[in-house]
Order: sequence, then C-alpha cells, then structure tokens
Amino acid sequence: MGSGIAQVCAEAGHQVIVREVDDDLLEKGLGKIETFLAKGVEKGKVTPQRKAEVLSRLRGTTDLARLCECDLVIEVVTESLEVKRQVFQAIDAACPPATIFASNTSSLSITEMAATTRRPSRFVGLHFFNPVPLMKLVEVVRSPLTDPAVFEEATAFARSLGKTPVRASDRTGFVVNRLLVPYLLDAIRALEEGVGSTVDIDEGMRLGCGHPMGPLTLLDFVGLDTTYAIANIMFDEFREKRFAPPPLLKRMVQAGLHGRKTGRGFYDYSQEPARPLSGLV
Ligand code: CAA
Repeated sequence: MGSGIAQVCAEAGHQVIVREVDDDLLEKGLGKIETFLAKGVEKGKVTPQRKAEVLSRLRGTTDLARLCECDLVIEVVTESLEVKRQVFQAIDAACPPATIFASNTSSLSITEMAATTRRPSRFVGLHFFNPVPLMKLVEVVRSPLTDPAVFEEATAFARSLGKTPVRASDRTGFVVNRLLVPYLLDAIRALEEGVGSTVDIDEGMRLGCGHPMGPLTLLDFVGLDTTYAIANIMFDEFREKRFAPPPLLKRMVQAGLHGRKTGRGFYDYSQEPARPLSGLV
C-alpha cells in the first residue's frame, strides 16, 4: 500500500520522501507509480508534464533518519506491533517533536503504538484502502492521547488527498474492518460448510448485493495472510466467535495460498481469467 499512498500524496501536491528497507524494494515501489502514470499518459488521461511533476515530488531513501525533513510520517510496515514499535522508536529519535506520526494499521492499537513514542499527542491512525489511488476512503483514528488539533490536521490532510475521511476512535478494526472482517470470514465458513462453491458465493454477493468483488475474490485481493493476521488481532481483542479465523483460512495461509500476491488463493491466477482453485474443501 506504501506506493499507493506515496502516489496520492505526490499527486495532491505534497513533497514525499519514501523510505524502504532496501534499494530493490524502493525501486519496485517507485517503479509501480511510474508505470501507472505512464499508462495514464498512454490513455491520454495524464499529460507528460503532469507525470514529470508528480514524479519530481517523490524522493526515495533507505535511511530512516531522512524522515526528519517531514511534517507528517505515515508508517506502512507489516501488521506486527513489534515491528511497528521498532520503526516508531527509530523515527521518534530522528524526527523533531512537531512531526506528526500516523500508522496505516488496520487492526493494531493506535494508543499502544503512540505510547511507545515521546509524542503520543501527535499520533493518529490514517487507514487507507486498497487500491489506494482508487478507493475514496481514509479512516482517521484518534487515541485518548491524541491532541484534538492534531486530529483536525490529520482529517484535513486526508481531505487534501481528495479522499473522504471517516473519523473513528481507537477500537480494533475501527469502522470498516469491524464490519468487513466478520463478513469475509463468514464467506469462508459458507464455503467450508458447502453452502455454495467459490463462484456461487462470489457471484451471489456481487450480483445480489452490487458489491464490486465477491468476498472470496476480495480476500485474495487483500491477502489471506493479512486477513488472517487481522482476524487474530480482532479475536484477541474482542474474544467473539465472529472474528475467529476459520480453519480453512489458517490452512491456506500455512500452504502459502495467500491470494493474488502468491498467484493462488481461492482462485488460481496463473491463467486469464483466474479459475477457482480446486481441492480446498
Ligand atoms: N493508479 C492510477 N490508476 C489506477 C491504479 C493506480 N494505482 N489502479 C488502477 N488504476 C486505473 C486503471 O488503470 C483503470 O483505468 P481505465 O479506466 O483508464 O482503464 C481504472 O483505474 C479502473 O481500474 P479497474 O478497471 O481495475 O477498476 P475496476 O472498475 O475493475 O475496479 C476495484 C477495481 C476498484 C479494485 C473494484 O473492484 C473494487 O472496488 N473492489 C473492492 C475493493 C475493496 O473493497 N477494497 C478494500 C479492501 S479492504 C482494505 O484495503 C483495508 C484492510 O484493512 C483490509
């Protein structure tokens, strides 16, 4: 999601520093943005001048200390509290006290992360949705420690990106995942129970409810490993069955069937169009 967030920030006119762990990943992320803009030029939707302007606002680095130049740092690392804590402690030491920190977490506690820094009042959640350039929503999340003025600034920043902010307090899953995750897990349970096939379940929700993607396609899109991690965090927080990851999800993650990013999940993406993967239940 990092490249999508960097893209929308640069398109909105902000100067962006992208920090990645190594040069290969940096090149890959910036390359993705370049490709999307190049496609836009081919289609006549983006002028070559606009493409050059957007790219000129993006600078890449592997050095965390470079983030000291930023007014706002948005963290988009893996969904692990330990990893996020380490990153925030490092940037806390590098950045001046006025810098606002935001996490793109979808399920971890903003309060817990904020409390590990020296600036809990200048810490918010900015939760983007995939694919970031196309999805209009950003959840803006406050902890009990967030300064109300910082919450307003973060909301205004989301608006500056052309997104619609939804404001939430720090409850695991915020608004969207609280409702979306049980729905996705229930779709897997329906498949496990033989209510319908992969295609039946997806077509049911796509055509019956007007969703752009059926739930199993959406799971492949979000990533089964990501959804599994989110479900575990939510189950741990609420201890409610609706958030418990079903056995099939666990087995698929163990088998490396993580969805589109690994080429297989509920569907096999090695051919076009993708076909439902057989042998799951
Ligand atoms: N930058 C710029 N343009 C882009 C782009 C990008 N990164 N990605 C796609 N586009 C362009 C495409 O090139 C295409 O351009 P043209 O119209 O010129 O061809 C245009 O945007 C539309 O692309 P698609 O044809 O691929 O779009 P679509 O109409 O098929 O819709 C979709 C795709 C938006 C993904 C739609 O299927 C959808 O809304 N799906 C549901 C997504 C969803 O629910 N996301 C949330 C997941 S949950 C989450 O993210 C949070 C969490 O915590 C788990």
